[in-house]
Amino acid sequence: MSQDVVAIVLAAGQGTRMKSALPKVLHRIAGRTLVEWSVAAALDAGARECVVVVGHGRDTVEDVTRRRFGERVRFALQTEQHGTGHAVRCAMEQALADFEGTVLILYGDCPATPPATLKELLAKTRGRRLGLVTARLSSPRGYGRILRREGRVVGIREDKDCDASERAIDEVNPGIYAVDAAFLRAAIADLGSDNAQGELYLTDVVAMAEDVVDVQGEMRQLQGVNDRWQLAACAAVLRERINEALARAGAGLVDPSTTYIDADCVVEADATVAPQVHLRGRCVVRSGAHVDVGCVLRDVEVAAGAYLQPYTVAADSHIGERAQVGPFAHLRPQTILSEGSKVGNFCETKKTTLGKGSKVNHLAYVGDGVIGARVNVGAGVIFCNYDGVQKHTTTLEDDVFVGSDSQLVAPVTIGQGAYVASGSTITKDVPAGALAIARHRKQDNKEGYATRLRERFAAAKRSADEPDEPE
Ligand code: UD1
Ligand code: CA
Repeated sequence: MSQDVVAIVLAAGQGTRMKSALPKVLHRIAGRTLVEWSVAAALDAGARECVVVVGHGRDTVEDVTRRRFGERVRFALQTEQHGTGHAVRCAMEQALADFEGTVLILYGDCPATPPATLKELLAKTRGRRLGLVTARLSSPRGYGRILRREGRVVGIREDKDCDASERAIDEVNPGIYAVDAAFLRAAIADLGSDNAQGELYLTDVVAMAEDVVDVQGEMRQLQGVNDRWQLAACAAVLRERINEALARAGAGLVDPSTTYIDADCVVEADATVAPQVHLRGRCVVRSGAHVDVGCVLRDVEVAAGAYLQPYTVAADSHIGERAQVGPFAHLRPQTILSEGSKVGNFCETKKTTLGKGSKVNHLAYVGDGVIGARVNVGAGVIFCNYDGVQKHTTTLEDDVFVGSDSQLVAPVTIGQGAYVASGSTITKDVPAGALAIARHRKQDNKEGYATRLRERFAAAKRSADEPDEPE
């Protein structure tokens, strides 16, 4: 019969060493909070469900985990934090009173814990009372030390409770346990707080088990987050893991050490991601797409064959097949670029659909636009979409040509195939096939006037430069 496993993740502490208003387990790495990383590892390793012990930041911790894991998470409340043993007691009493099977216990501040290590622990603990992971660490300060007798683990001593010889032990407790539920229930009822911190230590359960198995882990993966420096160290481990998995599956990461990809992004095989790119949230970069240097994308889909030139910044947008963007373009939410379309340098788009093969090439702002196919929007064109109170739509039908430096004052529609002359301010709809010219006045060429104007300006400059006559 397969092992029945539920997990407990301890996430009630404030984490004072973070020196942050935000509870520790809500800090983020690669787009996920620390507590989400821990819960995901437990479920990946085979836990059927996970009980999260909450306290500080309780509402937010419940929100973020429920949003991601739905029915697979439940919660236990630890109103005052009397230690890790007390936290587990809260979980067992409130959520697992009748559970029989194996309880996998993790701390919510060890985000890089590999599911494979947890699986190995569960396999080895099967039929035993207690199993734990241990690891070697050259500077073990701060961690609980593993006590062995004749090679077997017989207990854990917290750093603050160690004597000099115990402090020298370099085998530490990363804080991962698999425990038989019935034994755990009895053991946590017996915990005392006669220790340096006056807390109920979960680690004291180990000495009570008598029949302990252990699995060796790698400390770099298992390190905890107590302060922001350790948060950055864990982030580096996870970033490398994400990038390695993508690269080994065929994604073209040119320089993984400078590439930041959130855990929920997809980069398909044969897509290229250049150095210094940030993919945040839920981006998808399809096969054959190319995201060049310095692009920062959040929740963006980049279709096959699309090319994002350097320093494109985009959010919540879709970039169609073989579309081209940038360099230095800003696509704001709800930008949809159809196949083969183009948004060039120093353009900003927002809530705009650009039809097949259409181009917005230079220094334009297009907001609240509905743009058909094969449209050309010239340099410096502005969609005046906002009247100070409401946003209005600008519609450009297929094959429209808008000359440079025009302003289209929305709501306004330019009919199919129409032309807007450069420098026009368009306030009325333009019928299909028409030419609209809306300039301040007609052009007037005064022959020879430029030479006379220049002479006048030069004379004015000479008289300004002459020293004043003495009186
Ligand atoms: C703990 C272990 C130590 C181990 C280290 C590994 C104990 C007594 N010590 O120490 O052996 O080497 O982790 O990182 O277990 N928490 C609660 N409620 C509480 C106390 C803590 O939910 O009352 C949660 C915290 O939010 C945190 C986790 O448990 O996510 C660990 O607590 P922390 O105070 O960081 O324990 P350490 O001192 O690091
Ligand atoms: Ca810790």
